Amino acid sequence: MFTKAQIDSEKLNPDSTFFKEALAPTQEASKLLSLLDNLGRLPAGFNGEVFIPLLFHPNNKIRRLAVKNVGKLKDECFLEKLSTFADNETDTLTRREAISAIGRMRSEKAIPILTQFLTDTDPKVILQGLRGLLCFKGHPEVEEALTILREHPNEMIREHFENEKTVNARSDSRESHPMSLDAFKNVIVSADVQDVFKLIPDESVHLTFTSPPYYNARDYTIFESYKAYLDFLTNVFKETHRITKEGRFFVLNTSPVIVPRFSRAHSSKRYAIPYDMHPRLTDMGWEFIDDIVWIKPEYAAKNRNGGFFQHRKPLCYKANSVTESVMVYRKKTSKLIDWNLRQYDDETVEASKVQGEYEKSNAWQINPATDKGHPAVFPTELASRVIQFYSFKGDLIFDPFGGSGTVGRVAMEQERYFLLCEKEPEYVEYVKKTWDASLLYSSEFKVLSLTDFKKNVLERC
Ligand SMILES: C[S@@+](CC[C@H](N)C(=O)[O-])C[C@H]1O[C@@H](n2cnc3c(N)ncnc32)[C@H](O)[C@@H]1O
Repeated sequence: MFTKAQIDSEKLNPDSTFFKEALAPTQEASKLLSLLDNLGRLPAGFNGEVFIPLLFHPNNKIRRLAVKNVGKLKDECFLEKLSTFADNETDTLTRREAISAIGRMRSEKAIPILTQFLTDTDPKVILQGLRGLLCFKGHPEVEEALTILREHPNEMIREHFENEKTVNARSDSRESHPMSLDAFKNVIVSADVQDVFKLIPDESVHLTFTSPPYYNARDYTIFESYKAYLDFLTNVFKETHRITKEGRFFVLNTSPVIVPRFSRAHSSKRYAIPYDMHPRLTDMGWEFIDDIVWIKPEYAAKNRNGGFFQHRKPLCYKANSVTESVMVYRKKTSKLIDWNLRQYDDETVEASKVQGEYEKSNAWQINPATDKGHPAVFPTELASRVIQFYSFKGDLIFDPFGGSGTVGRVAMEQERYFLLCEKEPEYVEYVKKTWDASLLYSSEFKVLSLTDFKKNVLERC
């Protein structure tokens, strides 16, 4: 094996025959791999011909590293050789390396070659070809070639074009990203969220965390059919998407529900709400980020296997459900999370850092909560984690299905603002009474009817 110093000194000597010998295909594979991997930057004038015999080596890693080194030279004299190589290479990674090497030349002569890869059957080869062509944007031949990809069946290729559109489109938000309108801060609207949405402009909230009504499992909301239920949630989350700021998060807590049987001649029916909602959410522009599982202790589960426990007959097993889904989505954008972070000043970022121990896995063990004023609350700890992980201090946190106000209470505790909607006056009254009685929250919030909320929005916007 050669030392780095030896390789570096030979690289700088144009008369050296060192590489011709050291890179001869007859050399031991391990020596070839080590040298090819340690070549580093190649100086101008380096004789790239030494790599060409290795393009025919039986070891695909050697072929790949040889191509990579040819690519470093960005020399269009290798265009034909690399093009033929990419056409015939069977190893997909090596093939992509060859296309990348062609792209790195940034030569107009490479346009027809890269264009031909746009019709490949491997989407990653297409993306590699596309990447090589991006520096020729506006070139008529390239523009025409790219049009065939707009309707491509592969989602990553189509996404490339969608991102281009959003990069160029200006966000129509009137506020700077960290700001939110005063009219929405620390407000509970006592109304149906579908009416409230009509008063909220695009890109108003930073984070939504919610747990929607269960499909006919509790008696506070009854839907005509499961489809009507899913359609209702779809409309609410489409509107949530509209009012969410660019690249910000939506966290949905649901679980499959059982609607009990109505006679002994029927069985109970189980509805897989998280799984049925997921494709609807991604279709409307939420990008899937994480599937967190909230795990409750066993005692919290309804016992479903009393019968099975006795008779142990196959097909009758029913698992006691100790989990709920906490699905994390981000409003789709071409911008990276870094862009979102850069919207905040250093002080806010520093103050919002998550302190101390935190759960590193997607399995969150949290005890369930009960509340005498509401039949289906989520625990403070769950809201607290979500709010800390997915928002900054001073952000506006939205919950379309406010219930007992857990999201609002935790948002205040975490120095964020909240906007909640709750349709049942009984629950709104309960939140008002509890918070009024607390020194912590009493002066911090407003409960508004739809009419008053409308007035408030019109006056302050
Ligand atoms: C599962 S509970 C939310 C509980 C809440 N996460 C908590 O911790 O208290 C769902 C709530 O959504 C409310 N709700 C149902 N349909 C609604 C609608 N169209 N607009 C506003 N609230 C609604 C229900 O009254 C119920 O209080």
